[in-house]
Amino acid sequence: MDLLEAIQQTKPCRLFKTAQVPDEKLTKVLNAARLAPSIDDRQPWRFLVVRDEGTKVKLSQLLSKGALVRAAPVVIIALASEGESPSLVGGVVMSHLLDVAVSIENMVLAATAEGLGTFWISDFNADKISRFFGIPEGFQVVGILPIGFPGPETPTNGKSPNGRKSLAEVTAYERFNW
Ligand SMILES: Cc1cc2nc3c(=O)[nH]c(=O)nc-3n(C[C@H](O)[C@H](O)[C@H](O)COP(=O)(O)O)c2cc1C
Repeated sequence: MDLLEAIQQTKPCRLFKTAQVPDEKLTKVLNAARLAPSIDDRQPWRFLVVRDEGTKVKLSQLLSKGALVRAAPVVIIALASEGESPSLVGGVVMSHLLDVAVSIENMVLAATAEGLGTFWISDFNADKISRFFGIPEGFQVVGILPIGFPGPETPTNGKSPNGRKSLAEVTAYERFNW
């Protein structure tokens, strides 16, 4: 699958098969994250991989999207190390969070290319997740990704069945024009 195909085919996976994710595929997904670009090549990311059923059940109880975490055979918690990338992009955006977001999207696209489904969860209480995994201060949870083979019918959230804004709505040339 080429990259543009993966971009077009990627959609949040809301139904996972029980089949395990082969190590080889998981490694490809993690490598896609590791190979992401980052500001000054600082690579301020860590990826906590959870396969243990008991851990997934307990984690799911901390999340509103817990059912997805329970159902997926693998869950990746993407962390950002603040101390490794301490700058503000444009004086505003924390660079370590931006870098980790880039690495997460690499994982999402790699998963699609490998025939897997993912769901990027950002709705969590960072303190609860950090306490649960023993994540120390200075590391921030940026995203939680259940990963598995998608079920036969992945329902949409009903909000955006392919409802992206048109190119004309989001693009301007030469000057700000919205
Ligand atoms: C950074 C990011 C975080 C997201 N976090 C959540 C989330 O916490 N809960 C949720 O239901 N969906 C989450 N999503 C999924 C988006 O809501 C979804 O991609 C969007 O509604 C478009 O849906 P579609 O891709 O099926 O068209 C997240 C997506 C992104 C890119």
